[in-house]
Amino acid sequence: MTGRRELFLQEMGLGPVWRARGEVADAPGLVDAGAMDWSELKAAVAGCTACELHKSRTRGVFGVGDENADWLFIGEAPGVDEDAQGEPFVGQAGKLLDNMLRSIGLKRGVNVYIANVVKSHPPNNRNPNSVEVAACLPYLKRQIELIQPKLIVTLGKVASEALLGHEATIASLRAKVHAYQGIPLIVTYHPAYLLRTLQDKARAWEDLCLAKQTMQDLCSKESATI
Ligand code: URA
Repeated sequence: MTGRRELFLQEMGLGPVWRARGEVADAPGLVDAGAMDWSELKAAVAGCTACELHKSRTRGVFGVGDENADWLFIGEAPGVDEDAQGEPFVGQAGKLLDNMLRSIGLKRGVNVYIANVVKSHPPNNRNPNSVEVAACLPYLKRQIELIQPKLIVTLGKVASEALLGHEATIASLRAKVHAYQGIPLIVTYHPAYLLRTLQDKARAWEDLCLAKQTMQDLCSKESATI
């Protein structure tokens, strides 16, 4: 089965399509990032042509921060500023994300890694579609395997749905601790949404406090077992 057909079936809700272990997806289609190290993964993102977005992007935007971080924040896809500078969350939404981090005592790059689900800027800042998400997700999954964060915070619907594997509103997912592959995961609003919807900032603050509390609990459990 070609990668393209597989992606199409996924978009139609007819996946997953099982493949024999070791069988490599045909290009263009699903990326096989499962065994890549950091430098292979960075090179693969830089040269990726797995979806149509590569035609209009300036560069693949890989991710930024401490590659051994306890905290992993995940957004949607690079915007215009990120496409120009090659770093996630450097525009207006990024300024708010930096403030959100600061509000719970965190700082970009210090025990924090920031990544997006989709590594290429979608034209006109539209949301990435499900084919683009499916094509890019193997990169994020491998980033998570390499980082091994203690806690994941997903920012907005695209990241939350991609990692939790089902559609749902942020309102129904937030304020709870979920899990991705055994890693606690907290859902909150996307900073770009919060710039437009000030009344949800208080809820985002509650989610950040929940994240901080969850991290503290994890760390105290860890030190109790040492
Ligand atoms: N929005 C995102 O989701 N990611 C970015 O890097 C910038 C804006």
